[in-house]
Amino acid sequence: MIISESIRETREQVKEWKRQGLRVGFVPTMGYLHEGHRSLMEAARKENDRVAVSIFVNPIQFGPNEDFASYPRDMEKDAALCEDAGVDLVFHPDAGEMYGEGFSTYVDMEGLTKELCGKSRPVHFRGVQTVVCKLFHIIPADRAYFGQKDAQQLAVIKKMVRDLGMDIEIVGCPIVREPDGLAKSSRNTYLNAEERQAALVLDRSLAAGRKLVEAGERDALKIKECIAGEIGKEKLAKTDYVEIVDFADITPIENLEDAKNGEILCAIAVYIGKTRLIDNFIYRISECR
Ligand code: PAJ
Repeated sequence: MIISESIRETREQVKEWKRQGLRVGFVPTMGYLHEGHRSLMEAARKENDRVAVSIFVNPIQFGPNEDFASYPRDMEKDAALCEDAGVDLVFHPDAGEMYGEGFSTYVDMEGLTKELCGKSRPVHFRGVQTVVCKLFHIIPADRAYFGQKDAQQLAVIKKMVRDLGMDIEIVGCPIVREPDGLAKSSRNTYLNAEERQAALVLDRSLAAGRKLVEAGERDALKIKECIAGEIGKEKLAKTDYVEIVDFADITPIENLEDAKNGEILCAIAVYIGKTRLIDNFIYRISECR
């Protein structure tokens, strides 16, 4: 497995694979890797001849009061997980390599990025799009793999690729959870034992909302109230948002039947103590028609 900190070296290697006619899969990450990241690598491994992973805690997607400085990092463990998952190349640049002096070009998007996490994290998606766009140029892969854990991010990246005519296929992969239901996240490491228990409220409240939808409820407000009510029962939890949007364009929806492609995204962000966690489910309304 190659580990490279250099843009030039990484691009040369990927281009060499492309010259040989090999299909390349790419998994962008911020490191502190877990089973969720690994599932993306495994999907990439199955569908491509070579797999590249990037590990880069991207400063420009964090707001001034967010956790950039404290975001967990463990390159040695990450490299071992990548090696074990059959990764061929790890791109691990430092901030200077990615954002040299005078860096001032950004990729931004109207609409979709303003809802959900965009409301409480105004610069977040601009930073994500900019880094992912740059990574796609450094690693000209055939396919890139993103988790549904960050459903809005997945929708934003798909739209960026469509809007800008980028030559890469975006593959979405299901959420990987702990045995007790908590969605795996590098940020779970911030939780103490009591908070770790309290964090189960995310999965539990979503399950309650999903049950209502499955029973035929179509009024988004009622479903959101049910979820918020469940979260309210957990004293360590504070709701950032509970939202139901049309998954086609991430716009709020009142009646689930109105979803343009028949798919809704029910997404929540909840503070457990100081830690902000997100979770969601996607529901295909047409399934029950
Ligand atoms: P990071 O949070 O490290 O996540 C990297 C990828 O792993 C994302 O596509 C994310 O959705 C996926 N992932 C995380 N937890 C998961 C889980 N429990 N199940 C399935 N997939 C999961 O997302 C980012 O980094 C950054 O914003 C990035 C795209 C790398 C740009 O900096």
